[in-house]
Formats: sequence, C-alpha cells, structure tokens
Amino acid sequence: MDLTGKVAVVTGAARGLGKGIAEKLAELGAHVVISDMNEEGAEATKEEIITNGGRAEVFLCNVAVKEEAKRLVEETAQKHGRLDILVNNAGINRDSMLHKMDHGQWDAVLGVNLTGVFNTMKPASQIMREQEHGRIVNISSASWLGNVGQANYAAAKAGVVGLTKTAARELGKKNITVNAICPGFIDTDMTRGVPEKVWDIMVSKIPMGRAGKPEDVANCIAFLASDQASYINGELINVGGGMVL
Ligand code: CAA
Repeated sequence: MDLTGKVAVVTGAARGLGKGIAEKLAELGAHVVISDMNEEGAEATKEEIITNGGRAEVFLCNVAVKEEAKRLVEETAQKHGRLDILVNNAGINRDSMLHKMDHGQWDAVLGVNLTGVFNTMKPASQIMREQEHGRIVNISSASWLGNVGQANYAAAKAGVVGLTKTAARELGKKNITVNAICPGFIDTDMTRGVPEKVWDIMVSKIPMGRAGKPEDVANCIAFLASDQASYINGELINVGGGMVL
C-alpha cells in the first residue's frame, strides 16, 4: 500500500487508536493532519511521525463544534489543495447503566461520536465531490450492537453506521468511498478504564483470547484508504479478533 502524496485528516489522533491510525498512514507516505483537543498529545504524535521520517501537522479542534470541524476540513484542503482521506476516529465514553445515565452523559457522547462525524463529513463531502475523489473511514464500534453500560455510546456508534451507509450511496458515483470499522475490544486508555471484572468479561468473548492492538485497526484503515480498496464502499468491517461473528 502506498499513500504517497495523499493528504489525510485523522480526528482524535493524540493517543490510542487515532495515534496508531495517524502513524500508519504517515508510514505509508500520507501527509497527516493530526486533529485533537489535546495539544500535548497531538504534538507528541506529530514529533513521533516526523522522527520516523513521516509528514504531519497538528490542527487543534473539537469536532463536536460545527464551526471548528468545518475549519479543520476546509483549511486543510485549502492549504494542501486537496483532501484525500478523512478518518473520523474522535470518540469519548461516559459509561453508565441506562437508569442512572444523565442527559449530560447522553449529550456529550452523541455530540462527539455522532454529530462530530457529521460535522466533518459535511464539508469533506463537498470538497471530495468537487475533486471527484476521496476516502472516508468512520470508526464505529462493536458496541453498536449493544453493550451493558453504553446506551449513549452504542446509540452514537449505530448512528455512525447509518450515516456511513447513506453517505456511501450518495457519494459513490463521485468516486468517493465511505466505510466504517467496528473495532472490538482494543487495548487503549479507553478500554483500560473499564472495571477489571468487565475487562475479563470482554476478553472472554473474543475467540482470539486477547484484546486487539491499535495497529490491528490501523492496518485495516490503511487498506480502505488505499487505491487497492477502490471498489469497497458502504461496508462495515469488524476488526475484533472474532468478537462479533
Ligand atoms: N457484560 C455483562 N455484564 C456486565 C457488563 C458487561 N459488559 N458490564 C457490567 N456488567 C454487569 C456487572 O457485572 C454488574 O453485574 P452484577 O450486578 O451481577 O454484579 C452489573 O452489570 C452492574 O455493573 P456495575 O456493578 O459495575 O454497576 P455500576 O453502576 O457501578 O457501573 C458501569 C456500571 C459504569 C456501566 C460499569 O459496569 C462499566 O464501566 N462497565 C463497562 C462498560 C463498557 O463495556 N465500556 C466499554 C468501554 S471501551 C469502549 O467504549 C470502546 C469500544 O468501542 C468498545
């Protein structure tokens, strides 16, 4: 896979899954715009990429704020003359049993994990339509099928599935592919935050018997972003060691 000359935006790339995705795309030659609210983490991702011979820059952005997401996408395209790849990875969780979940927890998760995806996809689809080329990869989650303690997160990630499939239908004829990844249980700060007994429950559901690594997901995204995946559109791909079958 070769992404030389491609311009990619990865949201939530200061750490965890997003960091792994940004590093992989850069390793394959893309110029990566590391978008996050966490400046220190984003700068660290950038330095790591540059030290390894890649190209990257930081764009601080809260994707839940539509004006900020619009600026991220439009200023990137203006500066580089193109936007080839958009990876919507930014996500938060505010886990709680449904009967205890407050509206703040609901709104925060829906705002970042679903509205945030719409906020970048809307301006990106306009730019990609004009250039008649583009790759959008959205990060959904195995939780979209339902997960105890994640009514807000699951609803948002299910929303991402519908958004992805609709965009795939609308944008396909403009040579733009839109796909979603469902990571299973990946070893990141987010999953490390679950209670120990829940960690064991989750891992026990994985036929491969272990949590995934960010690079397991990043490899799949790199493929979807590459020319080799030019006829894959509207798919939902599980990367979870068989957690969802
Ligand atoms: N599967 C089955 N049972 C579960 C469960 C799960 N995934 N998670 C919790 N439970 C059970 C608990 O074992 C407990 O059962 P008992 O009453 O029989 O002991 C019951 O549900 C209530 O759980 P808690 O006692 O922990 O209740 P709480 O109110 O203190 O906490 C909670 C609830 C905040 C949801 C906590 O259980 C929790 O953090 N669960 C983890 C939720 C989770 O899976 N998050 C995924 C984070 S990673 C991520 O989001 C990335 C991704 O894409 C997957």
